[in-house]
Amino acid sequence: MDGSESFTSDPFEPGSSYDTVVAGAGLTGLVTALLLARSGQNVLVLEARHPGAVTTGNTTAKVTLLQGTFLSQLSRQYSQKQVQAYVDANREGQAWLLRYLEEQGVPYQRRDAYTYAASAQGTEKLREEVSAGTTAGLEMEYVRDAGLPFPVHGAVRLADQAQIHPMQVLNALVADIRSRGGSVVGGVRVQDHSGTRPATLHTNRGTVTANEVVLATGIPVLDRGLYFAKLKPSRSYAAALQLQEDQAPPPGMYISVEQPTHSLRDYELDGRRLLLVGGHGHHVGRARSEKHHLGSLLDWAGQHYPGAVATHTWSAQDYLPTNLMPFFGKFPRGGGHVYFGTGYNKWGMTNAVAAAVGISADILGGNVPWADTIHHRVTSPSGALSAVALNAGVAAKLASGWGQVAAEGLRKDKKHPAPAPAAPAEGEGKVYREGTKPVAVSTVAGTTCKLSAVCTHMGGILHWNDSELTWDCPLHGSRFTNEGKLLEGPATKDLPAAGKA
Ligand SMILES: Cc1cc2nc3c(=O)[nH]c(=O)nc-3n(C[C@H](O)[C@H](O)[C@H](O)COP(=O)(O)OP(=O)(O)OC[C@H]3O[C@@H](n4cnc5c(N)ncnc54)[C@H](O)[C@@H]3O)c2cc1C
Ligand code: FES
Repeated sequence: MDGSESFTSDPFEPGSSYDTVVAGAGLTGLVTALLLARSGQNVLVLEARHPGAVTTGNTTAKVTLLQGTFLSQLSRQYSQKQVQAYVDANREGQAWLLRYLEEQGVPYQRRDAYTYAASAQGTEKLREEVSAGTTAGLEMEYVRDAGLPFPVHGAVRLADQAQIHPMQVLNALVADIRSRGGSVVGGVRVQDHSGTRPATLHTNRGTVTANEVVLATGIPVLDRGLYFAKLKPSRSYAAALQLQEDQAPPPGMYISVEQPTHSLRDYELDGRRLLLVGGHGHHVGRARSEKHHLGSLLDWAGQHYPGAVATHTWSAQDYLPTNLMPFFGKFPRGGGHVYFGTGYNKWGMTNAVAAAVGISADILGGNVPWADTIHHRVTSPSGALSAVALNAGVAAKLASGWGQVAAEGLRKDKKHPAPAPAAPAEGEGKVYREGTKPVAVSTVAGTTCKLSAVCTHMGGILHWNDSELTWDCPLHGSRFTNEGKLLEGPATKDLPAAGKA
């Protein structure tokens, strides 16, 4: 089950007009749409796949103000006023979401949140986090025992946070938007935008017009603000585990200080309490083997919960801004009527709602003090350096991707070209060169597909993801199925076929 079977799309009506069109039905898009619909706006949500298809439906869904050691990292780059604005935004996001779930009768669980150190070196980071959190008014405390079944050197606890089932939340939001006259349409991908009030949105199924446009697509799908150059796409792995009779999930929600990150929480399914574990993230499209990352996570879980059986495994990605602070509000060069929210650093359950509150206030003429402070932040020298490093890495990957294809390409001797490689074995994919063209060929479920290996966003050479059996771009994180269908990322077009396999 991926959530698509429970969603029925409203009809798409090309040529129609709206007050606001929201692209993307994750948490950011649906909360924004609801806030606008509540104020009487005529709202349309256009979703390329189905609600929750990308990050929100695959999150570990801790709704917490203790976010690893994020506040101490933020404090190193920003003034206390800006850190406080971030905390205030997240506090408002959390409060809004939990209040909404109460009103709608959607279940959620209260849990204490912990950041733990598995090594002595990690405890220093914990103390810095307690200091940053306490200064920002959060009642964080340093504890020795976090209730985990393996030894830790210490932990930070923030009591009374929450965890949710993200699809239950999205389903409630969709129903609520519709009950207020809004529409939520699946299977329509926004590809471009032109003009101003009303603006025209170009999609794969025709155009619609709107006074305001909200890009809630994860990483923005319009390149004008160059956000693909300010956001690192990071993919992580997750698993649900059925524990042995004598084992129980730990009482709180946990995340480690150390890398690779380990995250834990419980989850109830049909009266059984499962353990969710997550972590082992990496830059999208740059792992030697994604299968290996998932395997390492499962090995780690097996060491701490011997005999536990994985019932589900999956992976998902989120975007990490080079300057750490999430982006939301008016989109640069969007003519003053395009808005966006992204860059939540894998803490979107509170940040996405905060972004939606900020965006809807901008559209409706409200004033949100924390949003103003966040909008006026200045990139610190370390944020700027981090952006330079990200883009140097992207340029190097672009060059090495094309270089490798050339090296692995067919012999230059046109009279005796080398034969195309044999079809890859089941579950494998390979990039090679045919003439001047990089070609991606893979075999999945017995079908061999031959596609262009060039990402439709900005020309990155694709990488085979041996866990998800997808083509992933190492530049800005676009992902495509083995048949070339776009799954996620800043690209807006599928991969073209490259002749017969
Ligand atoms: C493994 C993992 C674990 C996480 N755990 C936590 C956690 O415990 N707590 C926490 O706070 N956060 C967590 N996060 C982060 C959080 O899940 C995300 O920040 C949040 O879900 C992002 O929501 P979103 O609405 O911005 O994006 P998404 O949920 O990705 O929604 C974007 C939507 O836009 C659609 N779309 C894309 N392009 C187009 C287009 N051109 N036209 C129309 N639609 C389009 C997509 O199909 C998608 O449905 C985690 C993230 C990951 C990856
Ligand atoms: S995602 Fe930008 S080039 Fe592929």
